[in-house]
Amino acid sequence: MSDSEINHARSDRFSSTGFILAAVGSSVGLGNMWKFPYITGLYGGAAFVLLFIFCILLIGLPILLAELTIGRSGRGSASLSMARLGGSKAWGGVGLLPVTASFLIMAFYSVVAGWTLHYAMLSFSGVLTNGANYEELFAAFVGSWVPICWEFIVTLVTAMIIVRGVSAGIERFNKLLIPALVLLLIVLAIRSMTLEGAGEGLSFFFRPDFSKLTTESALVALGQAFFSLSLGMGTMMTYGAYVDKRQSLGTATLAIGLGNLLYALLAGLIIFPAIFVFGIAPTEGAGLVFVALPAAFAAMPFGSLIGGTFFLLLALAAITSAVSALEVPSAFVMDAFGWSRSTSVLFIAILSFLVGVPCSLSLNQEAEWLIIGGQSLFNGVDFVVTNVLLPLSGLIVTIFAGYIWKGARAEAGLHPGWLRLWLFMLRIVSPVLVLLVLLYYTGVLKL
Ligand code: PHE
Repeated sequence: MSDSEINHARSDRFSSTGFILAAVGSSVGLGNMWKFPYITGLYGGAAFVLLFIFCILLIGLPILLAELTIGRSGRGSASLSMARLGGSKAWGGVGLLPVTASFLIMAFYSVVAGWTLHYAMLSFSGVLTNGANYEELFAAFVGSWVPICWEFIVTLVTAMIIVRGVSAGIERFNKLLIPALVLLLIVLAIRSMTLEGAGEGLSFFFRPDFSKLTTESALVALGQAFFSLSLGMGTMMTYGAYVDKRQSLGTATLAIGLGNLLYALLAGLIIFPAIFVFGIAPTEGAGLVFVALPAAFAAMPFGSLIGGTFFLLLALAAITSAVSALEVPSAFVMDAFGWSRSTSVLFIAILSFLVGVPCSLSLNQEAEWLIIGGQSLFNGVDFVVTNVLLPLSGLIVTIFAGYIWKGARAEAGLHPGWLRLWLFMLRIVSPVLVLLVLLYYTGVLKL
């Protein structure tokens, strides 16, 4: 594809609210409602929540703005934009790191999004509300081949949305969904907080006990900040390329960051009261939402309807994120090989589906060949990508936008005071903190 054709493809742009909603849609998803509660349960409760908020504000937001400026100025895929702005092919090579990260994330993300669709069906059909053993039900389901069918459906739907392009596909879908989801979450949070005995869960979520933090807590909180804001995986660079020059990127950054935090906190307010009330351990792990919530829904009038709607909306929120995860490698293939949008999307979607299959199968206790070093392939890919690849590629973004590419300042369009603050965070605070966490985790640094 020639340069002018690439530019033509990029002339399919977001409207200004459409962009904010699409970016919130990318960031809000399973990360907030599935992952955040279960890792909060595993890695230290309220103290972990504080670490997470700290990472979002000090590291996440400065990098988010940097990624948006790179995308809007470079007007290409993550890799192409970095090559253009950095003035060398080598930077394009570096830009492959986020592209790889988002591809791998898509592979396991579509599996979990599939679980939520399955649970929506179970809930609507009343299976979840008749006092089943939710833990056994979940374990038997994830270990079977059924999730692969759902993974296929999720990947297909996601691909069908992005094939339609930016404004007709990605934007339209997000505009409808993101507001609907917040309303349902507020209703559920009120319901959960007014359950009898909700206090214990609320104090687990809000009253920090720093002795609960483990060696891994800081790394996981950092990884979660990246995962949740869709950073370090080229999403915000890729979406930035579809943003109009007149849009304020600073305002967008704040809206995305705060919006994302709101959804995560709402999810916590729903899950934690419920799990303590129904006697489920907060350290349950990846199944937490799928075990705790059905129990809570079962205790409500119209539980199957509310539960079904919740899981369906969650699946749709996951698809708005998956859309952005699949768009990153697809945009890369479009630019790098000059293929059409539909061929590129089809190619990446098939590959990602295939990689997702062993991830899903590895959750079967008997699939020993997919358990590596005591970890299932699923957890291993998630852990390495989220906690290592994303911070590493975020670190590269801070160096690129803070030191190498001089155009970031003008592109960000901030008032002088904000600009100074942003540059200080981007050039010093974020990279130093990311580096400290990585060094601490790898054992190079001891506290
Ligand atoms: N940010 C999304 C979430 O929290 C996850 C995501 C992953 C988005 C990869 C884009 C790309 O669910």
